[in-house]
Amino acid sequence: MTDLLEDMKRTHHCCQLRNTDINKEIVLMGWVQHRRNHGGVIFIDLRDKEGITQIVFNPENSKTVHEKAQGIRNEYVLGVKGKVIARPDDMLNPNMKTGAIEVMIDELRIFSKATTPAFQIEDRIEASESIRLQYRYLDLRRPQLKNNILARHAATMAIRNYLDHKGFVDIETPFLTKSTPEGARDYLVPSRVNQGEFYALPQSPQLFKQLLMISGFDKYYQIVKCFRDEDLRADRQPEFTQIDMELSFINEQEIMAISEGMIVAIFKKVLNIDLVTPFPQITYDDAMTKFGLDRPDLRFGLELCDISDIVKDAGFKVFANVVKNGGLVKAINAKGCADFTRKQIDELTDFAAVYKAKGLAWIKIKEDQWQSPIVKFFTDEEKDALKKRLDLEPGDIVFFVADQPKITNEALGQLRNELARRLEMISDDTYELVWLTHFPLLDYDETEKRYQALHHPFTAPLGEDIEKLSSDPLAVKSRAYDLVLNGIEIGGGSIRIHSPELQQKVLTCLGIDENEATEKFGFLLDALASGAPPHGGIAFGLDRLMMLLCKEDSIRNVIAFPKTQKATCLLTQAPSKASTAQLQELAIKVFKIEE
Ligand code: AMO
Ligand code: AMP
Repeated sequence: MTDLLEDMKRTHHCCQLRNTDINKEIVLMGWVQHRRNHGGVIFIDLRDKEGITQIVFNPENSKTVHEKAQGIRNEYVLGVKGKVIARPDDMLNPNMKTGAIEVMIDELRIFSKATTPAFQIEDRIEASESIRLQYRYLDLRRPQLKNNILARHAATMAIRNYLDHKGFVDIETPFLTKSTPEGARDYLVPSRVNQGEFYALPQSPQLFKQLLMISGFDKYYQIVKCFRDEDLRADRQPEFTQIDMELSFINEQEIMAISEGMIVAIFKKVLNIDLVTPFPQITYDDAMTKFGLDRPDLRFGLELCDISDIVKDAGFKVFANVVKNGGLVKAINAKGCADFTRKQIDELTDFAAVYKAKGLAWIKIKEDQWQSPIVKFFTDEEKDALKKRLDLEPGDIVFFVADQPKITNEALGQLRNELARRLEMISDDTYELVWLTHFPLLDYDETEKRYQALHHPFTAPLGEDIEKLSSDPLAVKSRAYDLVLNGIEIGGGSIRIHSPELQQKVLTCLGIDENEATEKFGFLLDALASGAPPHGGIAFGLDRLMMLLCKEDSIRNVIAFPKTQKATCLLTQAPSKASTAQLQELAIKVFKIEE
């Protein structure tokens, strides 16, 4: 077969030609987006990565080429040579960058035919996501997805430039490694040469980046894949990408400032938006009080309000008992929504129940009275106090949740977001960034009956809290911080422990004794003992950040080849069975576990 590219060199891309190019002889290459036949003349929209140009096959120009063009179908791949001409006035298309011209074709080469695509290559597609994932190479031809991937490239370039200028060194860390505890399950890889032993794919490069600080690299970064076997959601993938950083001789405010510079550079490059720095900071405790979640969406108000002290002796026993048992009663005033119907209230009650709320009490404030199944239980003093605390005015409806603090905060925090969505209080073009600081160091796992690190076990406790590690572990605050964008956690990091003694002390608190510590993290403890600089770092979720920048609902739409909610790849059919020979080499026997 002759080389179809011989003597044919592309001169322009498909979004390049303008009025000023009229009469030029040019060569374009691309895919057939669309084909029309008008009175014997064939018009084709030719598409490449950059855009679309209309090409014309007219029998009066060349009979043979026109004849050959008859066989062209959608998604065929063509090379065409021809002359740029002005479109007739009635065919100008101001919505198209190349809408003033078309190209009269003298030579046509069909590089490839194409089967009928499983769906139309356009943004208004109706194909299900599973079909789109199965034919991902077609899906990626659509402008929306293609532009997301290009935006992602722009972002990574901005990141690399920025960090390079700041003196960061890009260093790769291993994928076949030992477990790094970031709180998810590990993906394990069996070793053939060490039968019965397994590598863990890294949940993050956490320990390696700390080792690099101990080696003296001072500032490290990597745009790196991380692997976590966890329940998937719209903003979670089993393999995802972090912008991972670690710095020496630095404190949290300096790390936040450098991170802000990077986020500013990304926004400028991708959206041409100038963000204002410094970003606001809020402590974990304040965020929980006002928003109920450690990832507050600051694009709207609707703050939560603690009313436990007002209702602690109320006739409504549900509230009073919750307060007596150490719980919290909190409320949200949805201003001007007193006309919510029974159905709307029931829907919100069901919504709160998803987050384990046992009910959703409400009061409608009408001109002359309060309407509510629970209002009869309150005294005039209690009502007055509620009115003041919650700024109640005619036309408002207040929602209450009473439960243990975790449930009250989570349920009302989520309800706050849901109300804002329903009331259309969220503008699509607003970006609200906020740092969360002063997280608790530890959390108590009720099922496993032990403390666990809220961030990870290498996060430093706040200096003044260290002595509480043995007396009151849950009161210890950490030197961790998260960056939240529009209610989604896009990054998190901390100042690390750099003393081996303190590290062992925290591990002990987590129920990891010296033997287990040596087995799991002995190399880190040894390294810390070998001269460790004070250090800290942060990692950003690149996929999540791109999802928000591209205004997508799912991170799958900013990843070229993502996995489904069930962690499968519909394109390659991974995961799949291993052959008996492969399993034998690995000394692995597969058996079904009875449910
Ligand atoms: P963390 O576990 O908070 O910190 O992860 C950092 C950021 O990574 C993103 N992220 C995810 N994105 C998509 N899918 C997932 N499954 C997923 N899990 C996390 C989030 C998150 O903010 N080693 C520490 C960082 C450090 O301390 O420097 C770490 O991994 O946006
Ligand atoms: P009941 O007394 O169970 O009929 O509840 C009266 C109202 O209080 C209903 O609107 C319930 O949804 C609400 N309610 C019940 N338990 C709780 C709770 N733990 N927190 C908030 N509201 C509740």
